[in-house]
Amino acid sequence: MRYLIVSLLLVAPHVAFAANEVPALKEVFGAKFLVGAAIEPAQLRNPTDAALLKRHFSSLTAENVMKPHRLAPREGEYNFAPADELVRFARANGMRLRGHTLLWHRNAPAWFFVGDREQVRKRLERYITDVVTHFKGEVYAWDVVNEVASDNAGELYRQTPWFLALGPDYIEYAFRAARAADPDTQLFINEYDTEEADKRERFMTIVRDLRKKGVPLDGVGHQVHTRIGASAAGVDRALREVAELGLTNHVTELDVSLYHDPGSCWENETGCQRDYGSAVPPALLSQQALLYRQLFAVFEKHPTLKSVSTWGISDAHTWLSRFPTKRTNVPLLFDQAGAPKAAFHAVVDPAFAIP
Ligand code: G3I
Repeated sequence: MRYLIVSLLLVAPHVAFAANEVPALKEVFGAKFLVGAAIEPAQLRNPTDAALLKRHFSSLTAENVMKPHRLAPREGEYNFAPADELVRFARANGMRLRGHTLLWHRNAPAWFFVGDREQVRKRLERYITDVVTHFKGEVYAWDVVNEVASDNAGELYRQTPWFLALGPDYIEYAFRAARAADPDTQLFINEYDTEEADKRERFMTIVRDLRKKGVPLDGVGHQVHTRIGASAAGVDRALREVAELGLTNHVTELDVSLYHDPGSCWENETGCQRDYGSAVPPALLSQQALLYRQLFAVFEKHPTLKSVSTWGISDAHTWLSRFPTKRTNVPLLFDQAGAPKAAFHAVVDPAFAIP
């Protein structure tokens, strides 16, 4: 009842509510899926972020500190301390922890690739064994491999140092090493643009091939880095195709950008859409709220979807303010001050009239 009144008031512009006066995301969706956020350890010491995490989120992902170049900048020398901070916070607050990521071409230190094929394979298996063993019992789901599908038509696998050293079998080696190190953690393949038909076809071919080979794969992570103007239908389709294979779905890196840039902006920072600066048009925030509402409506339809994480907590910290170019972007459910945005109200309350 109280929230109904709040919703009605919110139809009027400029009426703001604090994050502790609205329903908690993890309670609204808790019967269906965990609600997570990607974080850096320093955010745990920021009172606004820590309060948002405790009240609204039931799962954590390390935005960067569990990537190979951070955990093992040099062969055999591990730096687990920053990630262990996340482990302690998750434990103390009854939250689950997703592991991100055991293998990604962007953060693969050069030491992995010295020597012949057999040496590279051994290093990969050693690294995965050590890391999964360290987090055993704490990380309940691992993104074992990240972004292995190609973006190019007619090419299945991304041409990465891993692919060039070991061929497509590197994916299988990674999964088998992770399963051997921890039989109880869930093993995911994580990918972006699974909502786009072309990319999804290549990606799902890889997934089906892994299944055929009996590779221990439990689920698919859909990053869902999307933008206003996109449709939720592709996400629906992606979740359905994975469910049909009997696998679990996670949405792992959700955000809704204000901008729609050409490929050149991502490749060499040319042709990027102009920065809105501090004057983000309110109509864009309404469109963003609508897409978030449509996405969560899709999420709720899929019983195989067990976790939905946003790539950040609030607009105060988001990779999109630096990528593909330095620019104001406000892609999350909470604003820069940590207050719930129209997008938040749109997802938690079907009666909320988006302004
Ligand atoms: O920590 C250094 C800092 O010391 C230095 O002064 C500064 C100068 O640029 O860089 C800092 O490191 C940056 C790091 O983020 C932490 O802020 C790196 O340059 C930057 O490349 C790194 O970007 C991360 C990116 O992955 C690449 O690892 C983003 O934070 C992170 O959000 C992003 O996350 C990825 C997912 O893992 C996979 N899916 C796509 C997603 C978005 O790109």
